[in-house]
Amino acid sequence: MAVIQTFTALQVMQDAPVIPVIVLHDVAHAVPMARALVAGGVRMLEVTLRTPQALACMEAIARDVQEAVVGAGTVRNPAEAQSAARAGARFAVSPGYTSRVGQACRDLGLPLLPGVATGSEIMMALEDGFTQLKFFPALQAGGTAMLKAWSGPFGEVKFCPTGGVTLQNAHEFLALPNVVCVGGSWLVPADALETGDWARITRLAGETAALRG
Ligand code: 3PG
Repeated sequence: MAVIQTFTALQVMQDAPVIPVIVLHDVAHAVPMARALVAGGVRMLEVTLRTPQALACMEAIARDVQEAVVGAGTVRNPAEAQSAARAGARFAVSPGYTSRVGQACRDLGLPLLPGVATGSEIMMALEDGFTQLKFFPALQAGGTAMLKAWSGPFGEVKFCPTGGVTLQNAHEFLALPNVVCVGGSWLVPADALETGDWARITRLAGETAALRG
């Protein structure tokens, strides 16, 4: 049996400038979409648990696209973390943070990027030993100004801002010393999935390489 490579949360963040936030409604889209992203240089794939098909999509990617590293997004409780791990997720991202989710991911050996939007949430995540965090929803909750303000009291924290980040503004986030990567849904547009425009997804993924200066 092939050895599955494991990653830390920091390694997940460092792999590419953008972690795509993916919403899949059709299992048939999962594998060609994952191959298209990998072809564009993006292999850490956050499949959100927002659709009934999400777990089956993760399973398909984990089984058929060896070059991809599939993760679960929108993990909101321990049961969802467990289902995601069973489906082959190798990292997890949560829109907010609870110690229960943090502990569940630890127990599963699943690197977690906990979502935070306030200083108190950062302090809770830090208390539980998490120093790589998702800032969500980034633009709505204060954007780059918020990240600059947090760099003082929370100097050891590295962020993945997500929510409202686009190809046009990503460089403003990535220029900050406390930002390692950004997350965004723009790499996998719903209409590209519907029409099977895999070349467009590869192109969108490829465009992000230039973001890392
Ligand atoms: C998420 O769903 O995690 C983010 O909202 C993605 O945000 P975006 O659609 O603004 O990229």
